[in-house]
Formats: sequence, structure tokens, C-alpha cells
Amino acid sequence: MTDLQFPNDFVWGVATSSYQIEGAARAEGRGESIWDRFASTPGKVIDGSSGEVACDHFHRYVDDVALMKSLNVPAYRFSIAWPRVLPEGRGTINHKGLDFYARLVDTLLEAGIRPFATLYHWDLPQALEDEGGWSRRSTAEAFVGYVEAVVERLGDRVEDWITHNEPWCASMLGYERGIHAPGVVDRSRAIAASHHLLLSHGWALPVIRTARPGARAGITLNLGPMLPASNSAADRDAARYADGHFNRWFLDPVFGRGYPDDIVRDHVRGGFLPARGMTMIQAGDLDAIAGHTDFLGVNYYNRSILRSDAIREADNEPPVRALAPPETWTEMGWEVYPPGLHHTLMRVHLHYGPAKMYVTENGCSYSTGPDANGRIADTQRVRFFADHLREAHHAIADGAPLAGYFAWSLMDNFEWERGYGQRFGIVHVDYETQIRRPKDSAAFLAKVFATNAVPAAAST
Ligand code: FCB
Repeated sequence: MTDLQFPNDFVWGVATSSYQIEGAARAEGRGESIWDRFASTPGKVIDGSSGEVACDHFHRYVDDVALMKSLNVPAYRFSIAWPRVLPEGRGTINHKGLDFYARLVDTLLEAGIRPFATLYHWDLPQALEDEGGWSRRSTAEAFVGYVEAVVERLGDRVEDWITHNEPWCASMLGYERGIHAPGVVDRSRAIAASHHLLLSHGWALPVIRTARPGARAGITLNLGPMLPASNSAADRDAARYADGHFNRWFLDPVFGRGYPDDIVRDHVRGGFLPARGMTMIQAGDLDAIAGHTDFLGVNYYNRSILRSDAIREADNEPPVRALAPPETWTEMGWEVYPPGLHHTLMRVHLHYGPAKMYVTENGCSYSTGPDANGRIADTQRVRFFADHLREAHHAIADGAPLAGYFAWSLMDNFEWERGYGQRFGIVHVDYETQIRRPKDSAAFLAKVFATNAVPAAAST
């Protein structure tokens, strides 16, 4: 069977984020982030761990870049820690913090690896959270100052910028469900947070382009199909709400349609909007959020199957999360559903028409470790990537402007509230010794990167 060849200029890469890999939480003037605070609060992270040391990438970045080079990695998506740059969130720049990213970028460029920098991957300075965090408009204003400081320093060398990673997680997991930092449970604040995250994205776009004319800027959203478990009106309504809350709440305003009416109505009916005591949407906000993006970043992991609460309770059932048998789920409890990637890319392409899309994250958690010979035969992960890449190829063939794909993640790392037990890396990390060992999936992707192709038939 012939290989599926990707377009010549397709961008291949791997992704990480600052808090999940850097460690060195107190090094060189870094301020406290909401994740430092959250992780040190008992009961918040499943194994009581934190990103204080993580993969110690802050001290090992030279070796990590060399490792990427040895795996033929053409592009690297990383994030910048706001509290390294502005320890208090605003005010005096900590140049030592920026020096780290300048060194990292130089090392990447020397290795021929194209940097994609994410400006916010959830590590808000705690000082800003103390003022109300993302539920306050002033945090969006502070973000602009932070972005100015970063692009002024790195804009001459970084051409590809992602303003935010997954604002749904930052707002809803952080302020509605409280399972991510800052651990707030308040839907009104979460809705306000989502708006301020989007607003700060819109405000950052011209700042990036002014610092570096020709720079490309976009936002990364986590997206996925939300399907009703049955054809009942109640289940269909549950799926509508889930889709609106997760996908459309972010896609619609970014693509100039404002917030979706049905979800606004739901929030108003529930008394959550307008957010208590907060002036949320002001004149000009929606135009700013709809500012031109050069690309949309899509993080895809799985789909959800929704049942209405009433049906669930009547049947005494847990929420139905997957149709596939549990033995095919990843260790996160996420169903493996490759067609959802094609579905998601096509939906965004057909309904929203982005100029370009990148899959900025896609990956899976399996804790496969070294065998007696030190080999890490993570066959499930190899199959996961192969199957998803075939779906990505299929979307391109169907006309989706997919321009690149970044695997999550370069290496095992701190998986937020799930701690170190969940391993998403294509490189295994021994946290005692910090030894990195490429898994079979790394060899598989190294070949994909080198050949710009994925095997057409299932590989295993
Ligand atoms: C995404 C996050 C990323 C990682 C993966 C597994 O939601 O962006 O940091 O945790 O999930």
C-alpha cells in the first residue's frame, strides 16, 4: 500500500507547555503562578505533585532541542510563562526570564527548528488572580503589556504566535468546575473569564504584528464533536448545549459571529449572564475578538456523547462519555476516536472558513515504560498517531486548509490535576534521573517527519 503524502509545505512538529515541563519554578526571578498555588493546595492534584521540577527543561533545554533534532522535528510549539517575564503580572520586566526564551529560540533556530510560541498556556501570575484573575477585564489589559514585552524581545526571531491555548479550559475548568487553577466554582466568573481571554486574544493580534510585520498570529481552541446519546429531544438538547458551551462559544466570536444566541439565552435564563457585578461585553469588544487570524490552532483529543441529566437520573446511569468499549480508551479515560479529527477539521472549514488550520495538539496517554532492553514499545500510541494522521490527510483531500500537525507531547510531563501518572510523551521521562528515552512512537513520527508521509494501511 502506498504512503499518504502530505503537501510539500506541511508543518510537522511537537508541542509542550511551560508549566508542564520547565520546572525551575523559583529560578531567576520567576513569580508565582496560579498553578504553583493550586498544586501546592492539598487535594487539588491527584498525586500531590506540582510543576516545581517537572522535566527540568529550564536547565536541560539544550539537550532537549538536540533530542528534537535527532527526531527530525521540523517545528516546536512551546509556551512562555508570563510570571517569568512579569513576576507580578505587570510592571517591571524580569529580563532574566525573557533571556531564557531568547536562548531557547536561538538554540532552536541553530538546530533548524521553527519556533511556534504560545503566549498563554494557563500559568497566570498569581498576583493577577489575587485581583480576580481572568474574570476581571484588567487581566486582559495586563496581558497586552505582557505580550508587548515578549514580542519586543523575541519578535525578530519568532514568526508564528499563538495567543491562547484552549480558553475553554482556562475559563471553564479553572473558574466553573474548579478542577484546574485557580480552582474557582462560579459559572458567572467563568463566563466573564472566557470573554476576557478572548478579548485579550483580539487585543494581542495587532501588538504582535506591530512588533514584527509579517508575523503570523492565531489562537488555539480545543474542539471536538458533541453527539446526543439518543434521538430524544432531551439528549439532543444536552448535545446542543455541550457543543455551544465547548465549541461555538469560542469559534463564533473569533470568526465574527458574536456569542451564540442559544447559549447566551441559557446563561441569562440561569442567571449567569450578565455576570454578577461585572461589566462584560463593552463596545468594540466583539470586533476586537473577531480580528483577522492567520490560522486557527485546533487541539483534538476525543468526542463526547451526551445524555440529558433527566434521562441519566431516570435510568440511574453515569454520564455516557463514550460508545467505544472502555478497553480502547486511553489512560485518561478518553475514547480513541480518530474520525472525530476529520469531522472537526471539516466542520471548522465548512462553517467558519479559516485561512489556515494547524492541529496544534493531538496525542494520548499510555504509561508504557521501558522493557528489559530499554525499548518502549508504545504500540497503542503509534496506532493512535497513524490513525489520526490518516484522518488529517483525508481532511486535506476534502479541502480543509490544514497546514500542519503538532503531536502532544515531546515528552512525558506534568499533566495538570492528573499529575505525573498520565504520560503523553513520544519521549519517556524518568522523573528520578531526568533521563529521556524516545519511545517507538518517536521513531514512527521521526519517519513521518522525514518522509512527509504516513503509511496508508494500519501499521500494527
Ligand atoms: C490539553 C492541554 C495540554 C495537555 C493535553 C493532554 O488540553 O492543552 O496542556 O494537558 O490536553
